[in-house]
Amino acid sequence: MAPTIYTKFHTNLQPISSSLFKTQRTSFTMASTSNESHHLNPQQSSVGKIKRLVLTPEGRTKLNTYPDRDFYLYPRLVTHVDDGFISTLTSLYRQRLRPEMQILDLMSSWVSHLPNDVNYTRVVGHGLNAQELARNPRLDYFVVRDLNEDNKFGFDSCCFDAVLCTVSVQYLQQPEQVFAEVFRILKPGGLFIVSFSNRMFYEKAISAWREGTAYSRVQLVVQYFQSVEGFTEPEVVRKFPSKDDAKESNSPVGWIMKLLGLMSGLDPFYAVIAYRNFKPIHD
Ligand SMILES: C[S@@+](CC[C@H](N)C(=O)[O-])C[C@H]1O[C@@H](n2cnc3c(N)ncnc32)[C@H](O)[C@@H]1O
Repeated sequence: MAPTIYTKFHTNLQPISSSLFKTQRTSFTMASTSNESHHLNPQQSSVGKIKRLVLTPEGRTKLNTYPDRDFYLYPRLVTHVDDGFISTLTSLYRQRLRPEMQILDLMSSWVSHLPNDVNYTRVVGHGLNAQELARNPRLDYFVVRDLNEDNKFGFDSCCFDAVLCTVSVQYLQQPEQVFAEVFRILKPGGLFIVSFSNRMFYEKAISAWREGTAYSRVQLVVQYFQSVEGFTEPEVVRKFPSKDDAKESNSPVGWIMKLLGLMSGLDPFYAVIAYRNFKPIHD
Protein backbone atom coordinates (compact mmCIF):
# COMPACT_ATOMS: atom_id res chain seq x y z
CA MET A 1 0.00 0.00 0.00
CA ALA A 2 1.20 3.52 -0.76
CA PRO A 3 2.83 5.26 2.22
CA THR A 4 0.81 7.85 4.05
CA ILE A 5 2.24 11.32 4.39
CA TYR A 6 0.73 14.28 6.13
CA THR A 7 0.19 17.81 5.00
CA LYS A 8 2.28 20.64 6.40
CA PHE A 9 -0.47 21.18 8.97
CA HIS A 10 0.83 18.23 10.92
CA THR A 11 4.06 20.13 11.57
CA ASN A 12 2.23 23.26 12.71
CA LEU A 13 0.87 21.67 15.85
CA GLN A 14 0.43 24.14 18.68
CA PRO A 15 1.37 23.01 22.17
CA ILE A 16 -1.78 21.54 23.65
CA SER A 17 -2.60 20.18 27.04
CA SER A 18 -2.97 16.46 27.60
CA SER A 19 -6.64 16.73 28.56
CA LEU A 20 -7.43 18.51 25.32
CA PHE A 21 -5.45 15.94 23.40
CA LYS A 22 -7.59 13.18 24.88
CA THR A 23 -10.67 14.82 23.39
CA GLN A 24 -8.98 15.13 20.04
CA ARG A 25 -7.82 11.56 19.88
CA THR A 26 -11.33 10.20 20.18
CA SER A 27 -12.50 12.39 17.34
CA PHE A 28 -9.73 12.19 14.81
CA THR A 29 -9.75 10.03 11.74
CA MET A 30 -6.01 9.65 11.46
CA ALA A 31 -5.08 7.24 8.73
CA SER A 32 -1.71 6.19 10.09
CA THR A 33 0.26 6.21 13.29
CA SER A 34 3.59 5.96 11.51
CA ASN A 35 6.32 8.57 11.86
CA GLU A 36 6.57 9.27 8.17
CA SER A 37 7.80 12.72 7.29
CA HIS A 38 5.63 15.43 5.84
CA HIS A 39 7.25 17.42 3.11
CA LEU A 40 4.20 18.39 1.15
CA ASN A 41 4.13 21.94 -0.13
CA PRO A 42 1.12 23.61 1.54
CA GLN A 43 0.18 25.12 -1.81
CA GLN A 44 -0.43 21.60 -3.13
CA SER A 45 -2.69 20.82 -0.22
CA SER A 46 -6.44 21.34 -0.36
CA VAL A 47 -6.79 21.36 3.44
CA GLY A 48 -8.97 24.23 4.60
CA LYS A 49 -10.15 24.99 1.07
CA ILE A 50 -13.77 25.03 -0.08
CA LYS A 51 -14.42 21.87 -2.07
CA ARG A 52 -17.85 22.85 -3.36
CA LEU A 53 -20.56 25.40 -2.76
CA VAL A 54 -23.57 24.09 -0.87
CA LEU A 55 -26.03 26.89 -1.60
CA THR A 56 -27.40 28.19 -4.88
CA PRO A 57 -27.53 31.98 -5.35
CA GLU A 58 -31.30 31.80 -4.69
CA GLY A 59 -30.74 29.82 -1.48
CA ARG A 60 -28.63 32.68 -0.08
CA THR A 61 -31.30 35.36 -0.46
CA LYS A 62 -33.13 37.07 2.41
CA LEU A 63 -36.56 38.69 2.40
CA ASN A 64 -35.11 41.75 4.14
CA THR A 65 -32.32 42.90 1.83
CA TYR A 66 -31.20 45.88 3.91
CA PRO A 67 -27.75 45.51 5.53
CA ASP A 68 -27.76 43.24 8.59
CA ARG A 69 -26.12 46.03 10.57
CA ASP A 70 -29.34 48.07 10.26
CA PHE A 71 -31.45 45.20 11.56
CA TYR A 72 -29.19 44.81 14.62
CA LEU A 73 -28.72 48.56 15.18
CA TYR A 74 -30.60 48.53 18.49
CA PRO A 75 -29.73 46.04 21.22
CA ARG A 76 -32.17 43.19 21.78
CA LEU A 77 -31.67 42.20 25.39
CA VAL A 78 -33.72 39.03 25.12
CA THR A 79 -32.97 35.33 25.06
CA HIS A 80 -33.72 33.73 21.72
CA VAL A 81 -34.44 30.20 22.97
CA ASP A 82 -36.06 28.67 26.06
CA ASP A 83 -34.46 27.49 29.29
CA GLY A 84 -34.48 23.81 28.25
CA PHE A 85 -32.51 24.57 25.09
CA ILE A 86 -30.01 26.71 27.01
CA SER A 87 -29.49 24.10 29.68
CA THR A 88 -28.87 21.38 27.03
CA LEU A 89 -26.38 23.67 25.29
CA THR A 90 -24.57 24.53 28.54
CA SER A 91 -24.27 20.80 29.34
CA LEU A 92 -22.85 20.16 25.87
CA TYR A 93 -20.27 22.94 26.39
CA ARG A 94 -19.38 21.47 29.78
CA GLN A 95 -18.72 18.09 28.13
CA ARG A 96 -16.79 19.33 25.11
CA LEU A 97 -14.86 22.41 26.28
CA ARG A 98 -11.91 22.51 28.69
CA PRO A 99 -11.01 25.43 30.99
CA GLU A 100 -7.67 26.08 29.30
CA MET A 101 -9.33 26.70 25.97
CA GLN A 102 -9.38 29.93 23.97
CA ILE A 103 -12.89 30.31 22.61
CA LEU A 104 -14.51 32.42 19.90
CA ASP A 105 -18.25 33.02 20.27
CA LEU A 106 -19.38 33.80 16.74
CA MET A 107 -22.58 35.84 16.14
CA SER A 108 -22.58 36.56 19.83
CA SER A 109 -24.80 38.90 21.84
CA TRP A 110 -25.29 39.94 25.48
CA VAL A 111 -25.67 36.41 26.85
CA SER A 112 -23.29 33.51 27.01
CA HIS A 113 -24.35 29.90 27.37
CA LEU A 114 -20.99 28.75 28.72
CA PRO A 115 -21.11 27.16 32.18
CA ASN A 116 -20.81 29.92 34.81
CA ASP A 117 -18.46 27.98 37.04
CA VAL A 118 -15.77 27.32 34.41
CA ASN A 119 -13.09 29.92 33.67
CA TYR A 120 -11.77 29.64 30.15
CA THR A 121 -8.40 31.12 29.22
CA ARG A 122 -9.97 33.62 26.82
CA VAL A 123 -13.44 34.16 25.37
CA VAL A 124 -13.79 36.48 22.40
CA GLY A 125 -17.14 37.64 21.02
CA HIS A 126 -17.85 38.41 17.38
CA GLY A 127 -21.18 39.98 16.52
CA LEU A 128 -23.07 42.93 15.12
CA ASN A 129 -24.25 45.00 18.05
CA ALA A 130 -21.57 46.60 20.25
CA GLN A 131 -23.99 47.43 23.08
CA GLU A 132 -25.10 43.80 23.34
CA LEU A 133 -21.53 42.51 23.22
CA ALA A 134 -20.33 45.03 25.82
CA ARG A 135 -22.90 43.63 28.28
CA ASN A 136 -21.84 40.01 27.79
CA PRO A 137 -20.10 39.11 31.08
CA ARG A 138 -18.10 36.22 29.58
CA LEU A 139 -16.28 38.12 26.87
CA ASP A 140 -12.68 39.22 27.39
CA TYR A 141 -13.05 41.34 24.29
CA PHE A 142 -15.21 41.55 21.22
CA VAL A 143 -15.22 42.43 17.53
CA VAL A 144 -18.11 43.97 15.59
CA ARG A 145 -18.20 42.87 11.96
CA ASP A 146 -20.88 41.97 9.43
CA LEU A 147 -20.07 38.45 8.25
CA ASN A 148 -22.23 38.87 5.17
CA GLU A 149 -20.13 41.83 4.06
CA ASP A 150 -16.72 40.66 5.19
CA ASN A 151 -16.29 37.02 6.08
CA LYS A 152 -12.64 37.31 7.14
CA PHE A 153 -12.41 37.34 10.94
CA GLY A 154 -9.12 39.21 11.26
CA PHE A 155 -7.57 36.67 13.68
CA ASP A 156 -4.32 34.78 13.19
CA SER A 157 -4.50 31.23 11.91
CA CYS A 158 -4.65 28.40 14.47
CA CYS A 159 -5.35 30.65 17.46
CA PHE A 160 -8.62 29.25 18.92
CA ASP A 161 -9.38 25.89 20.51
CA ALA A 162 -13.12 26.20 19.98
CA VAL A 163 -15.57 28.27 17.97
CA LEU A 164 -19.26 28.45 18.93
CA CYS A 165 -22.21 29.66 16.89
CA THR A 166 -25.56 29.65 18.68
CA VAL A 167 -28.97 30.04 17.02
CA SER A 168 -27.49 32.21 14.26
CA VAL A 169 -26.12 30.06 11.41
CA GLN A 170 -29.33 30.66 9.43
CA TYR A 171 -28.32 34.29 8.85
CA LEU A 172 -25.07 33.49 7.00
CA GLN A 173 -25.24 34.13 3.26
CA GLN A 174 -21.76 32.73 2.51
CA PRO A 175 -21.58 29.91 5.05
CA GLU A 176 -18.94 28.01 3.06
CA GLN A 177 -16.51 30.96 3.36
CA VAL A 178 -17.30 31.43 7.04
CA PHE A 179 -16.78 27.72 7.81
CA ALA A 180 -13.45 27.83 5.90
CA GLU A 181 -12.46 30.87 7.96
CA VAL A 182 -13.41 29.00 11.17
CA PHE A 183 -11.20 26.12 10.00
CA ARG A 184 -8.29 28.53 9.43
CA ILE A 185 -8.43 30.07 12.91
CA LEU A 186 -8.95 26.75 14.75
CA LYS A 187 -5.92 25.01 16.15
CA PRO A 188 -5.49 21.45 14.87
CA GLY A 189 -7.91 19.41 16.97
CA GLY A 190 -10.04 22.45 17.73
CA LEU A 191 -13.80 22.13 17.43
CA PHE A 192 -16.69 24.11 15.99
CA ILE A 193 -20.10 23.73 17.68
CA VAL A 194 -23.07 25.06 15.70
CA SER A 195 -26.37 24.91 17.58
CA PHE A 196 -29.87 25.95 16.53
CA SER A 197 -33.57 25.40 17.07
CA ASN A 198 -36.60 26.13 14.93
CA ARG A 199 -36.92 29.82 15.75
CA MET A 200 -35.53 32.56 13.54
CA PHE A 201 -35.93 36.15 12.42
CA TYR A 202 -37.82 35.00 9.33
CA GLU A 203 -37.02 38.00 7.15
CA LYS A 204 -33.30 37.69 7.90
CA ALA A 205 -32.88 33.93 7.49
CA ILE A 206 -31.63 32.73 4.10
CA SER A 207 -34.15 31.15 1.78
CA ALA A 208 -32.57 27.66 1.98
CA TRP A 209 -33.19 27.75 5.74
CA ARG A 210 -36.62 29.38 5.70
CA GLU A 211 -37.96 26.93 3.18
CA GLY A 212 -36.36 23.89 4.78
CA THR A 213 -37.51 21.41 7.41
CA ALA A 214 -35.88 20.53 10.72
CA TYR A 215 -34.22 17.58 8.96
CA SER A 216 -32.98 19.59 5.97
CA ARG A 217 -31.56 22.33 8.21
CA VAL A 218 -29.44 19.79 10.07
CA GLN A 219 -28.29 18.43 6.70
CA LEU A 220 -27.47 21.93 5.53
CA VAL A 221 -25.13 22.54 8.48
CA VAL A 222 -23.58 19.09 7.99
CA GLN A 223 -22.91 20.06 4.37
CA TYR A 224 -21.39 23.40 5.38
CA PHE A 225 -18.80 21.42 7.36
CA GLN A 226 -18.32 18.92 4.55
CA SER A 227 -17.79 21.72 2.02
CA VAL A 228 -14.45 22.54 3.67
CA GLU A 229 -11.61 20.05 3.28
CA GLY A 230 -10.24 18.94 6.62
CA PHE A 231 -13.06 18.87 9.17
CA THR A 232 -13.86 15.53 10.79
CA GLU A 233 -17.17 13.89 9.87
CA PRO A 234 -19.80 16.12 11.52
CA GLU A 235 -21.58 14.72 14.54
CA VAL A 236 -25.25 15.60 15.07
CA VAL A 237 -26.76 16.03 18.53
CA ARG A 238 -30.57 16.26 18.80
CA LYS A 239 -32.73 16.65 21.87
CA PHE A 240 -36.49 16.93 21.70
CA PRO A 241 -38.33 18.25 24.75
CA SER A 242 -40.33 15.57 26.53
CA LYS A 243 -43.90 15.80 27.84
CA ASP A 244 -42.43 16.20 31.32
CA ASP A 245 -40.35 19.18 30.16
CA ALA A 246 -43.53 20.69 28.71
CA LYS A 247 -45.39 20.26 32.01
CA GLU A 248 -42.64 22.12 33.84
CA SER A 249 -42.47 25.00 31.39
CA ASN A 250 -44.19 28.26 32.31
CA SER A 251 -43.21 30.22 29.20
CA PRO A 252 -46.15 32.11 27.64
CA VAL A 253 -45.21 30.94 24.13
CA GLY A 254 -45.05 27.35 25.34
CA TRP A 255 -48.39 27.72 27.10
CA ILE A 256 -50.11 29.08 23.97
CA MET A 257 -48.57 26.37 21.78
CA LYS A 258 -49.77 23.70 24.20
CA LEU A 259 -53.22 25.27 24.28
CA LEU A 260 -53.32 25.04 20.49
CA GLY A 261 -52.18 21.44 20.74
CA LEU A 262 -48.94 22.18 18.92
CA MET A 263 -46.48 19.63 20.27
CA SER A 264 -44.78 20.51 23.52
CA GLY A 265 -44.36 24.20 22.66
CA LEU A 266 -40.71 23.92 23.70
CA ASP A 267 -37.60 24.50 21.62
CA PRO A 268 -36.02 21.40 20.08
CA PHE A 269 -32.24 21.31 20.30
CA TYR A 270 -29.88 20.59 17.42
CA ALA A 271 -26.11 20.87 17.34
CA VAL A 272 -23.63 19.90 14.64
CA ILE A 273 -20.03 19.49 15.75
CA ALA A 274 -16.78 18.80 13.90
CA TYR A 275 -13.09 19.08 14.65
CA ARG A 276 -10.25 20.49 12.62
CA ASN A 277 -8.64 17.27 11.52
CA PHE A 278 -5.16 16.19 10.54
CA LYS A 279 -5.68 15.49 6.91
CA PRO A 280 -3.84 12.44 5.62
CA ILE A 281 -2.71 12.61 2.00
CA HIS A 282 -1.91 9.50 -0.02
CA ASP A 283 0.76 9.41 -2.72
C1 LIG B 1 -30.63 35.18 17.36
S1 LIG B 1 -29.26 36.15 17.80
C2 LIG B 1 -28.27 34.99 18.69
C3 LIG B 1 -27.30 35.65 19.60
C4 LIG B 1 -26.47 34.72 20.47
N1 LIG B 1 -25.64 33.83 19.69
C5 LIG B 1 -27.32 33.96 21.46
O1 LIG B 1 -27.12 32.75 21.61
O2 LIG B 1 -28.16 34.53 22.12
C6 LIG B 1 -28.45 36.32 16.25
C7 LIG B 1 -27.11 37.00 16.34
O3 LIG B 1 -26.46 36.90 15.08
C8 LIG B 1 -25.71 38.06 14.86
N2 LIG B 1 -25.69 38.30 13.42
C9 LIG B 1 -26.75 38.31 12.58
N3 LIG B 1 -26.36 38.62 11.34
C10 LIG B 1 -25.02 38.80 11.39
C11 LIG B 1 -24.03 39.14 10.43
N4 LIG B 1 -24.36 39.39 9.16
N5 LIG B 1 -22.75 39.25 10.84
C12 LIG B 1 -22.39 39.01 12.13
N6 LIG B 1 -23.29 38.68 13.08
C13 LIG B 1 -24.58 38.59 12.73
C14 LIG B 1 -26.45 39.19 15.59
O4 LIG B 1 -25.55 40.11 16.13
C15 LIG B 1 -27.21 38.48 16.68
O5 LIG B 1 -26.63 38.70 17.93
